[in-house]
Amino acid sequence: MSERADLLGRHIVLGLSGGIACYKSAELVRLLTKAGATVQVVMTEAAEAFITPVTLQALSGRAVYTSQWDAREGNNMAHINLSREADAVLIAPASADFIARLVQGRADELLSLLCLARPRERCPLVVAPAMNREMWSHPATQRNVAQLQADGAHVFGPGDGEQACGETGDGRMLEPADLLADLIGFLRPKTLAGKRLLITAGPTFEPIDPVRGITNHSSGKMGFAIARAAVEAGAQVTLVAGPVHLPTPRGVQRLDVMTAQQMFDTVLPQAAQHDVFIATAAVADWRPATLAEHKIKKEGKKQAPTFELTENPDILAAVASLARPPYCVGFAAESERLLEHARAKLQRKRIPLIVGNLGPATFGRDDNSLLLVDADTARPLPADGSQADKLTLARALMDELAARLLRA
Ligand code: C5P
Repeated sequence: MSERADLLGRHIVLGLSGGIACYKSAELVRLLTKAGATVQVVMTEAAEAFITPVTLQALSGRAVYTSQWDAREGNNMAHINLSREADAVLIAPASADFIARLVQGRADELLSLLCLARPRERCPLVVAPAMNREMWSHPATQRNVAQLQADGAHVFGPGDGEQACGETGDGRMLEPADLLADLIGFLRPKTLAGKRLLITAGPTFEPIDPVRGITNHSSGKMGFAIARAAVEAGAQVTLVAGPVHLPTPRGVQRLDVMTAQQMFDTVLPQAAQHDVFIATAAVADWRPATLAEHKIKKEGKKQAPTFELTENPDILAAVASLARPPYCVGFAAESERLLEHARAKLQRKRIPLIVGNLGPATFGRDDNSLLLVDADTARPLPADGSQADKLTLARALMDELAARLLRA
């Protein structure tokens, strides 16, 4: 995902304060620039003790600022000029001391000065704390972080785990890839703010015996991309996932299941607490009627075994027929006559919107092409009927959903 130009045209001021996590900021600069952003690095004196401006200049392609007296600026007002052109100021790492300085509105060195002088309404301040766990949990730091947020700043992380000091706990700076994902999401419009979305994704696995089962080629990529796009749009997201090997998108609550019945049992009690249900999962229509206790052996059998199948519950239809259903979006993975099948499904399941795609062209792939079908219209995504990567499609689908929720 880091190859996508999600930050094209964005200008980020990346501030480094003192901490061992400064070494991660070199990677962060790389990821930000690869995502299309221009990055202006500003460092405190303490940060320079951990990493040199030379490294960050080389990676960002811009001379680093370290002093409020920098004579390069014509008007000698680096603290004003730097933030005026920025879409965000990101402090990573943000040390305990630097956070305390921000809270106090200190302005005796360039980085805190520019944070104070930035135009708050159009240049948000984001801090990624990095410190020892005792420093992080100290009431002084917690008080400062709460005050910083009350003053309008945003806090990414911190994460937990092993720390450079050898201790383990909260206070690690988030990994560069996580900071990138959070920043991309942060800068996207919050069209689904306050909405709760329930999403199913991936295949199901219907066991035959303890080692075999019936499943399908669904990778879960589309559903996971939708979950990520929904979080980026400000929604609260619950993702019920079949067996897939995909990392959980940041900020998503994930519930793992194996079978269609488990997916049904997990989804149904949750459905009423959500505003939207998106059924992306490729749920097995049937499961073996009985589960063999032990592995079915080949030895000593003249004929291949046969299985009786029994029907799985239809999760989407069950949710759609609740007394007060969430806004339901179904998926139709077909191999032919997409519009016809999608319309039939729309009516059969009594749902307002169905997203058609061609199974063989989507399963396991990064790119896809969708057809949004409601009772009256059918609209391809992308609009020209071409292919796009699944996150781009998911974002467009969330825009469409937000517009439909407004009309509903
Ligand atoms: O019924 P069919 O499988 O053709 O419809 C596909 C849509 O219904 C998808 O949105 C899928 O997630 C959902 N579905 C379901 N439970 C099933 C079968 C399909 O929620 N048992």
